[in-house]
Amino acid sequence: MSDAFAPSAKPWQVSIEPNISSGYFEAERSRLFKHVWFQLGRVEVIPNPGDYFVRQIDVLGASVIVSRGRDGVLRAFHNICRHRGNRVVKQAAGSAKAFSCGFHGWTYNSEGALVNIPLEQEFRGCDKADLSLIPLAIEVWEGFIFVHLNIEPEESLRDYLQPVAGLLDGFPFAEMELSGWWSARLASNWKTFQDAFIEAYHVLAVHRRSIPDFRSDPIVPTAQSLGRHCKLTYYQNLHHEPKPAEAMAFELSSLAFLNAGDANELKTRRWASLNFERRDNWVFDEFVIFPNFHLFLGDGWMLCHEFWPVDVDHTDWHVKYYQQRTTSPTVRIAQEYSKVAMRDAIREDLSTIESTHAAQRSGAMPFMTLSPSLDALIIHHHGVVAEYVGARLTGIEP
Ligand code: FES
Ligand SMILES: [Fe+2]
Repeated sequence: MSDAFAPSAKPWQVSIEPNISSGYFEAERSRLFKHVWFQLGRVEVIPNPGDYFVRQIDVLGASVIVSRGRDGVLRAFHNICRHRGNRVVKQAAGSAKAFSCGFHGWTYNSEGALVNIPLEQEFRGCDKADLSLIPLAIEVWEGFIFVHLNIEPEESLRDYLQPVAGLLDGFPFAEMELSGWWSARLASNWKTFQDAFIEAYHVLAVHRRSIPDFRSDPIVPTAQSLGRHCKLTYYQNLHHEPKPAEAMAFELSSLAFLNAGDANELKTRRWASLNFERRDNWVFDEFVIFPNFHLFLGDGWMLCHEFWPVDVDHTDWHVKYYQQRTTSPTVRIAQEYSKVAMRDAIREDLSTIESTHAAQRSGAMPFMTLSPSLDALIIHHHGVVAEYVGARLTGIEP
C-alpha cells in the first residue's frame, strides 16, 4: 500500500538545474523516456476495424500509429515506411483499409503488413514479409491505450502501473464520454509544467476568482506516494458560497464540478480507493501516472492531462474532460456549467507556467523552496525522475 508523506521540520530545497539543463534533458531522454509506458488515449477513439490515430512522441523523435486491425486487435507501429523512411500516415486520425506511403506508394494493411510494392520486380530478392511496419509494445488497461518504445519492455504494463492499476481496476471509465479538450505548446520544461498540476497550494492565489472562498477554509490535500506514481486527494470548503450560476448547477445535479454536497450518494464516492479518508468534503482524487499522465477522478467526471516534453524548454500539453453519460436535460445543464468552470480554472492554471520557467531559466535562483506537505508530490515526482536519470535531487535538506 501507499505511504503518506511524512512531514519534515525543514523546508525542502530542490535544485532548479534539472528544469533548465540540456544535459539533464538528454539524460531524461535516454534513461527515462525510453523505459516507460506512455498513455496515448482511450480505446473508444478507434472502435472499428481500420480506425487509427497517430501521435508524436517528440522527446524520442517518434511518430506512432495506433491501428485497430481487421481482426479487431489494437497494434502500434512506428510511422516509418520501410522503403526509405517517409512518414506513411500524414493524417492525425481516420479509418482506412490500408496505409499507402505518399512517396512511392508502398502500401501496408491495418495490421502493419506490407501488401504492395509498385514495380515489385525491381526489388528482386526482397521479401515483403520481412518489411512490415516496425511494431511497438502496446497494452490496454481499463480502456487506456499505452505504448512502450521497446517492443520487449522491461515490465508489463500492469507491473509498471502498480499499485495504481489495482486501486482502479474495474472503475467505470467507459460510462463517461468526452466533453471538452484543450491543448497548447508552452515554453516550459515538462516538469515545471506538471508541478503546477500536482499541488493545491496555488488555489489560494491562482484560482482566487474562480474558487474565491477556498481561502476561508484551507485544506491541505492528502498526498500519497504509489511507487513511481503518486496521488492527491482534494477536499472542498464545505462552507463554499456558490455564485448564482454555480448554485443553479449544484441545484440541478450533484455531478456539478466542485459540488461537495450530497457526499455519499454517488458510486464514484463509494469507489473504495477514492476518498479513502471518507471525508464529506471530498471532491476528487488525482492519480499522477509516471511520467506524464495525470488522471483526475471526481463524481461523474474525469480529467486526463498529458504533458509531452519537446525539448528542455518546451512542452506539448493535452487535456481531455469527460463527463458521465446522461439523457437528463437538467444534468446536461449542470455539466455544461461544469465544463466552462473547468475550462476557466485550467486557463488560470496555465497563466503561471511560462513565466515560472523563464524566471528559472535566468539562473538567478539555484533552488526552489518546497513545503514537504503542500508540495509533496513535486518532491516525489522530481525524485523519481532523478532516480531514473541516476542523479541526486541536489540541495535537499533532509
Ligand atoms: S519512402 Fe515510402 S514508398 Fe518510398
Ligand atoms: Fe489549479
